[in-house]
Amino acid sequence: MKLKTTFDGMTLNNPLMPAAGPLVGDDKKMAFLRDAGCGAIVSKTISTKDPHIPRPCIFGDKHQVMNSELWSEHAMTRWRDDFFPRYIKNNDRPLIVSVGYSEGDMETLIPMFDEVADAFEVSTHYVGTDLSVIANTVKTIRKHTDKPVYMKISPHLPDPEGFARVIKEAGANGIVAINSLGPTMKIDLAGRRIVYGNEEGYVWTSGPVIKPLALAVVHKIKTAEPDLTVIGVGGIASADDVIEFLLAGASAVQMLSAAMIKGKQLYKKILDDLPGALEKHGFSSVEDAINTRLVNDVVYHANTPTLIEEKCIECMLCVKVCPYHAIEFKDKITFDSERCFQCGLCVAQCPTDAIEMKP
Ligand SMILES: Cc1cc2nc3c(=O)[nH]c(=O)nc-3n(C[C@H](O)[C@H](O)[C@H](O)COP(=O)(O)O)c2cc1C
Repeated sequence: MKLKTTFDGMTLNNPLMPAAGPLVGDDKKMAFLRDAGCGAIVSKTISTKDPHIPRPCIFGDKHQVMNSELWSEHAMTRWRDDFFPRYIKNNDRPLIVSVGYSEGDMETLIPMFDEVADAFEVSTHYVGTDLSVIANTVKTIRKHTDKPVYMKISPHLPDPEGFARVIKEAGANGIVAINSLGPTMKIDLAGRRIVYGNEEGYVWTSGPVIKPLALAVVHKIKTAEPDLTVIGVGGIASADDVIEFLLAGASAVQMLSAAMIKGKQLYKKILDDLPGALEKHGFSSVEDAINTRLVNDVVYHANTPTLIEEKCIECMLCVKVCPYHAIEFKDKITFDSERCFQCGLCVAQCPTDAIEMKP
């Protein structure tokens, strides 16, 4: 199974890379994920200033990660003098250097890392929502590099299509979508306290809970600006998730939180699972998935669901969850076609796939 993906002059042996964060916070960490097989390596975001990070700063459960971490705790000169020189000695795949944040920061950071970077990823997480500021940042970056430039969009940016248009016009190659969601909040009920927040009490949320949002942003951007490269990130936790992002419009993907929840070995597991998952879903390669057009066969009237009797275990979940009171148990599960709104929730909830809605 061919896993390679090519965009903006870079070829990755597979589409999975780490997202900027603590798992790529120095050369040893980046080397661990290179050895795990990631198709490209992204660094932690490097800034010109020291971050002031509250502790504790990372909460995780099985659905999400919440953090009040900021950019790299290491100075830009440490990256220039120690981490990158050590890392690139054994590097054989694209290195994407993540930098932040302002136009002024770019004047310093892009020339500093241009020699070592195969591409730049630029966080816009803390620069507000004014698209002209972002456009000017891209123009400044372009003055200092010919390498591919990917602007990273945050979910608090209200207009992904507008973001895509301005960064394309200003000379960027694509977008990394999305950064973590927020501000969000984590309350410790027993202690009546905010344990993980920043000074204002807020955290950023990532991991499986944000996957639907990330998919939508990827799809919006690719639909609005098909010529832009989109790197999808947000909630990926399995090989199937990777394929979903490719179908939504991504040319490659990144992952962080799921590997923080389940362990760093998840990168290798997803890469091991990816060929089988592509085959199971009928794709001949990663490029085949990328080039497949996503079908949206929206209809406004459907049929009342029907029961596949031999699969029904009479658990009554459908009766309990039906929002329209349209399902009853009368010797067997029955559907009231007068009350049924054809919403599909029972089909989605049935634990044994015993309910179907024929087109
Ligand atoms: C602890 C933590 C630190 C992060 N640090 C950065 C960072 O330095 N730069 C950045 O662009 N994104 C950062 N992110 C956001 C991730 O790169 C990613 O966009 C987001 O978490 C969504 O992907 P995920 O659900 O796979 O984690 C961080 C996320 C977490 C959880």
